[in-house]
Amino acid sequence: MVLGPSNIAGKIETSFLIVVSACVVLLVAVTVTMLVFLYRYNRKRHPVPGETRENIPLEIIWTVIPTILVIFMFYFGWVDFDYIRNPPKDAMNVDVISRQWSWTFRYKNGKQSDTLRVPVGQPVKLTLTSEDVLHCLFIPAYRVKEDCVPGLKTHLWFTANEAGTYNIFCTEYCGLEHSHMISKLITMSAAEFSAWYQSKPEAKAGQKGLDLLQSKGCLGCHTTDGTPKVGPTFKGLYERKVTVSTQGKERTIVADEEYLKRAVLDPGSDVVKGFPNIMPKMPVSEDELKEIVNYIETLK
Ligand code: CUA
Repeated sequence: MVLGPSNIAGKIETSFLIVVSACVVLLVAVTVTMLVFLYRYNRKRHPVPGETRENIPLEIIWTVIPTILVIFMFYFGWVDFDYIRNPPKDAMNVDVISRQWSWTFRYKNGKQSDTLRVPVGQPVKLTLTSEDVLHCLFIPAYRVKEDCVPGLKTHLWFTANEAGTYNIFCTEYCGLEHSHMISKLITMSAAEFSAWYQSKPEAKAGQKGLDLLQSKGCLGCHTTDGTPKVGPTFKGLYERKVTVSTQGKERTIVADEEYLKRAVLDPGSDVVKGFPNIMPKMPVSEDELKEIVNYIETLK
């Protein structure tokens, strides 16, 4: 039994090793037999072909042994599949919301994050969905992967074996920034996790807005440090003049509060010059919108 960084990784690795070992044994047996036959029944050594009739014991052997082997592999596959598909009752649930092109992890107490944090040793169930197109959550080190489908809830589960940081990728082609739809899984001790889980965000000016941008995945496409990504940066945006295309006509407007709100609620109405018109309408409340605009104001 291989251990691995997660319980699932251990299972998958063990099954994989069993199947590969069986294949190696077969490969060697077939190759050796073939070489022996090539040598023994070479035309020089064996010019007149002999006549072979049926051989019942041999036929039974070559039917029964592969059958046992295949059932053996099926058994391991089935038992592990059953284990991997059925999270234990006491698993901690985390909702995973995917969208072009970011992840949000939502916990039971309402806490949201763009990175997945879980305690070591505790079974975690992820309930996945998508707000737009097909995505797929993949944690390579953990050997777990599941599709995120709009209008459908899918799930996967795992228990972390050790503290560490692991990659999370999107492995379903979902458009322009698919390859940047990356996050991290951070596993920590139960005490560290509970400290993070209970912590309230700092009450800095605009902090709430920044938290919202993070949890709603806006920072997948927009930065706060001045570098343009798929969308324009938020730095220095407030009250700056921007050239936009409104219903195909170019015009220059000032990025005031009203414009910023419109840009979130109806992104297609004024498309900033030099950027593609691909932002989805973001579901935000009036209060949330205010916090976001307040934060952008602090980046003046
Ligand atoms: Cu999301 Cu690829």
